[in-house]
Amino acid sequence: MATVAIGQPLSRKDGVAKVTGAARYTADFAAAGTAYAQLATSTVAKGRVAELDTSGAKAVPGVLLVLTHRNMDRLQPLKFIFAGGEAQSSFMPLMSDEIRYAGQAIALVVAETQEAADDAARRIGIAYRAEPAAASIHDQDAGAPADAAEAIEIGDAEAAFAAAEVKVDAGYTTPAQHHNPIELYATTASWQGDKLTVYVPSQWVKGTQVGLAKALGVPPDDVQVISPYVGGGFGSKASVMPHTVLVAAAARRLGRPVKLLVSREDMYAAGSFRPATTQRVALAASRGGSLQALIHEQNGQTSRMDQACFPGTEMTARMYAVPNIRTRETVIATDVNTPGFMRAPFETPTFFGLESAMDELAVALGMDPVELRVKNEPDKDPTKGLPWSSRSLVQCYRRGAERFGWSRRTPEPGSMRDGDVLIGWGCATATYPTQLFPSSARLRLAANGSAWVGCAAHDIGTGTYTIAAQIVADRFGIPMDQITVELGDSRLPTGPFAGGSVTAGSLSGALVEACNTARDRLLQAAAGPDGPFAGVAVSQLRLEDGEIVGPDGPRESLAAIVNRMPAGVLEVEGAWAPAGMTAENVERARRGGVAMAGPSYPTFSAAAFGAEFVEVRINPRTRTIRAPRMVGVFAAGRILNAKTAHSQLMGGMVWGLSNALLEESEIDRKRARFVNANIAEYHVAVNADVGSVEVEMLDEKDELVNPLGAKGIGELGIVGTSAAVANAVYHATGIRVRKTPILIEDILPLA
Ligand code: MOS
Repeated sequence: MATVAIGQPLSRKDGVAKVTGAARYTADFAAAGTAYAQLATSTVAKGRVAELDTSGAKAVPGVLLVLTHRNMDRLQPLKFIFAGGEAQSSFMPLMSDEIRYAGQAIALVVAETQEAADDAARRIGIAYRAEPAAASIHDQDAGAPADAAEAIEIGDAEAAFAAAEVKVDAGYTTPAQHHNPIELYATTASWQGDKLTVYVPSQWVKGTQVGLAKALGVPPDDVQVISPYVGGGFGSKASVMPHTVLVAAAARRLGRPVKLLVSREDMYAAGSFRPATTQRVALAASRGGSLQALIHEQNGQTSRMDQACFPGTEMTARMYAVPNIRTRETVIATDVNTPGFMRAPFETPTFFGLESAMDELAVALGMDPVELRVKNEPDKDPTKGLPWSSRSLVQCYRRGAERFGWSRRTPEPGSMRDGDVLIGWGCATATYPTQLFPSSARLRLAANGSAWVGCAAHDIGTGTYTIAAQIVADRFGIPMDQITVELGDSRLPTGPFAGGSVTAGSLSGALVEACNTARDRLLQAAAGPDGPFAGVAVSQLRLEDGEIVGPDGPRESLAAIVNRMPAGVLEVEGAWAPAGMTAENVERARRGGVAMAGPSYPTFSAAAFGAEFVEVRINPRTRTIRAPRMVGVFAAGRILNAKTAHSQLMGGMVWGLSNALLEESEIDRKRARFVNANIAEYHVAVNADVGSVEVEMLDEKDELVNPLGAKGIGELGIVGTSAAVANAVYHATGIRVRKTPILIEDILPLA
């Protein structure tokens, strides 16, 4: 097929709708008769509701319903997503008087207007029987570390570490963080008899459909979940949050559509967050810089209700050629809502640890940090012994170093200055496992030459609408503007959930299958008794630039062939599953369960890689840290759209910078709650914090991962950035900061 569209930096199909306000998000949908909801939430983190007075709330004019644990429907419990379920947490508020975390919903008020609901929610009188609570893993009342994932043990890491010539053994900490998408959490639910329609910003419409059906005790086919646009997901919208279930139940009780827009402050408890970690990374090497041992132990935060383990050491163990590896993953229970996915949930914290430690080892060895990585490039996955489907990390480092001007770096800390401003240059590895999800997609070719694609997949700002159309455009020679793509509706064929960077690779697999089937059907019709090539063998025909071409040159347009078909339309479905996936898991995914494969497949391991370089400039008097320049070079198989891919990678690096220098959800230890629950006090990088961000994507051919050889890139860019910043700060100052965010006070000792 002629590749005219795939790979091109085409603008988003949904771009105009988004910038003109025509794109409708969850809160924009309001059926006639919609009532408005508001939450009343707990001010204590643990205990019980001792007294509850709803009379003041009910007296507010326009109030229709006040739901509390006293009158709430008994909902069926849902399983936590990490435990194979759909729910953000196994704990559902309003089922009892129990309080498990600060900000937990105590009541849901529904009224004729938003103003009445807000007013009434504030008038609910609640008295608590509070118990001591710990929201921080550093709190002595937090749980004891519990083993939470299978350790990786290769060789004898302890013995190799003890015997090695050069070693580094250090502890690193990362904080809790919240996603803060621009689009607030929201749900609108309406019932038509026994059938429920829910609008919710979602990274997983299929799982949400199944979860809501379970919780409410209705058949899944009676639930439709719609989420055409998501105003920022980042993992926060990947599972069913409690308020979505409560709103659906309230709408059923009331017999009216109900809409809830969760406030920014309430979002800090209504959903998940990135859990805090402490890590130990021990690295040992020979004098020549060959790694001998890696020990990586991570202790992460979870809630009291659910065991959320983020085994990021599964990727740190794969990164370099190390003969002796030991990992350990433990979790600490705290009194918070359950943590969950946030962009590269496993790798972002653990690569801060690993890649900081690699820099420390390079210093200990007196070796260039790029050369240390290159020297320890593994020829296969060290944990599985499998070959990589493709791996271009060394090429990324070489190209990145060249583009950044790394050869002009003088290694001595504090040796590079501009006037008295200290300059530091640091680098780190980025990676993300290539994970894939069984998917199906529907393709329709119409007699007027247009096409339609439908899949219950998602475009969370990543470009899915556009790349889906690009694939069909190339295959059938149909112009991009003649292709309609429909996503984010649970009634469409089951696609991947929008997590783990699986969407492009998985959806494209299903689409290629659908395209193949459609092509076969077109060729058969063309060669059939009523076709323009009647009597010609199908094998003599080929599809080329939107036309069927016969053996001696005559051509016929696809539209003309479709026009002869019974309904004047050709509709096919394509299904695809990653290598080695069992039929049972494929079926599980089709029914709306999680069935993700990778990074290891039966005959290969797969991941995307990158090298990131950061320049920091530090004012020696104020200690302010700026990062005017970042360069990231990545290789992620085939790039389906150079513009949207570039944006994903750049966005990831910007978030990585934000992660390194700004972001932390701060905990009031006494009240066991997040206190900077707003976007004024939760600092994220804004334009003025970001200088030049250069992104380059290397050509990389991968013939194993999926039909188009496309690896995921949504999460790749953020991994490694925070270590590159910390390494640059060390280079500028000689101070090793082993925590994020790196703040002015962390480099006060600077002479
Ligand atoms: Mo991503 S954190 O898996 O949505």
